[in-house]
Amino acid sequence: ARADDTLITQVQPWSRNLGDPVAAAPYGLPTPHEFDVVRRTVDWLTADAYSSVSFTPIHALDGTITPQGCAFERHHSGAIDLRKEDYRLMVMGDVARPLVFTYADLERFPRDTRVAFCECAANSGMEWRGAQLNGAQYSHGMIHNMEYTGVPLRLLLEEAGYDTSRRWVYVEGADAASNGRSIPIKKALDDVLVAFKANGEALRREHGYPVRLVVPGFEGNLWIKWLRRIEVRDTPVHSREETSKYTDTLADGISRQFTFAMDAKSVITAPSPQAPVRHGDGPLVISGLAWSGRGAITRVDVTLDGGQNWKVARLAAPPAPMALCRFYLDVAWDGAEMLLQSRAIDDTGYVQPTKAQLHAARGMNSTYHNNGIQTWLMRADGSVENVEVS
Ligand code: MTE
Repeated sequence: ARADDTLITQVQPWSRNLGDPVAAAPYGLPTPHEFDVVRRTVDWLTADAYSSVSFTPIHALDGTITPQGCAFERHHSGAIDLRKEDYRLMVMGDVARPLVFTYADLERFPRDTRVAFCECAANSGMEWRGAQLNGAQYSHGMIHNMEYTGVPLRLLLEEAGYDTSRRWVYVEGADAASNGRSIPIKKALDDVLVAFKANGEALRREHGYPVRLVVPGFEGNLWIKWLRRIEVRDTPVHSREETSKYTDTLADGISRQFTFAMDAKSVITAPSPQAPVRHGDGPLVISGLAWSGRGAITRVDVTLDGGQNWKVARLAAPPAPMALCRFYLDVAWDGAEMLLQSRAIDDTGYVQPTKAQLHAARGMNSTYHNNGIQTWLMRADGSVENVEVS
C-alpha cells in the first residue's frame, strides 16, 4: 500500500464505533463481502434441478475442509426434509436379528470421527473428450472434504448378527430415488461410517440430514444420504445406479462395473479461470488440491510449461488417507504465458495419468472416473483458460 493511503492515515468508521453485539447472528452466515463464493450449476447439464448437481467453489476456498454451506450437492430426486424424530434405519437380509434403529439409538453406539473426501464419479466427466468447462469449480467441483462423526457400520452389522459368509450389503436412502447401491461387505466392515455430524454440526439437509453413509475413498454415489436400509446379501443387486449409471464404458463398448475407489487426482485451484492473476509479475502462489481413494498423497508435482519440467510442491500438512491434501508452489512469475498442471502421487506408488494415458487405457466412451491431469493456460495478462495439451 502507498504511504498516503487514507486507509492508513485517517481513522476509519469501523475504528470509531461499536461493532455488532454478541449473538447478533445466533447462527452466523458468511460475510456478504464474499458473496460470490457459492455453489454454482451448469444449466445445460441436466434436464431439471431435482436430478442434478451443484459445484463446490474450489477456486475460491483454501485449506482442506469444505464448509457444508458451499459443498457440492448431487441428488437424483431432490433434497428431502426428514426430521430426526421420523428417522428409521433398517438392518435386514441375511442377519440373525433384523433391527430398526431410531436416531436416538444410533447416538448410543460408540462413534468415530474422521476426515474424508466425497468425490462424485462424474467429477470431470465432461472433460473426458477435451477441455470443456472454464473453471475449476465446474471441471473439478463435484468434491467436498469434511470431518464426519458417526457409528462404524460394522457395529450395526454385528448388532444384527450378520451372516459372516455373505459378501455384499445393499444400501439405500429414504428419498424417492433411493439411490440403492451394493457395497462389498469387506468395505462395510472396514471403515464405513453411519454419520450424523459433518464438520462438528448436524448434516445439512442437502447432505443427507439426519444420517448419511460415509464410504472413505469410494465414489460419491455410494455415500447414501437419508440412509434408511442396509441389507446383507450374497450378491450385488445390479440396481440402476450400478448398471445404466456409474459404469465405465470402454473402447469395445463393454461397460466396467463397480469401479469403487477414486484414483489419485489433483487440480490447481488458483490460478484458474475463475481465479485469474491480477497482481502482475513477481511472487505468485500456485495452490491446489490432491487426493486419493486408495491411501494418502505422498507427493504433488507442478509444471509451469505443460509437463516438460516438474517441481515438487509443498504440502500444507502431513496428508491423511482418503482426505484432501492442500499443496502450494511459490514462484517468481516472469509475466510470460504458462501451461499449469499438477500431478498427484499416492502411497501405493500410483501416479496421476495424463489424459492421453487415460484415453489409451479406456478409450473415448467414458464419462465417469476421469482423473487425468488438468491443464490451465495462464496468459501474460493473468487470465486463465481450460485447455488440452497432447
Ligand atoms: N443418496 C441418496 N439417497 N440420493 C441421492 O440422490 N446421490 C449420490 C450420493 N448419495 C444420492 C445419494 C451421489 S451421485 C453423490 S455424488 C453423493 O451422494 C453426493 O453427496 P452430496 O450431495 O452430499 O455432495
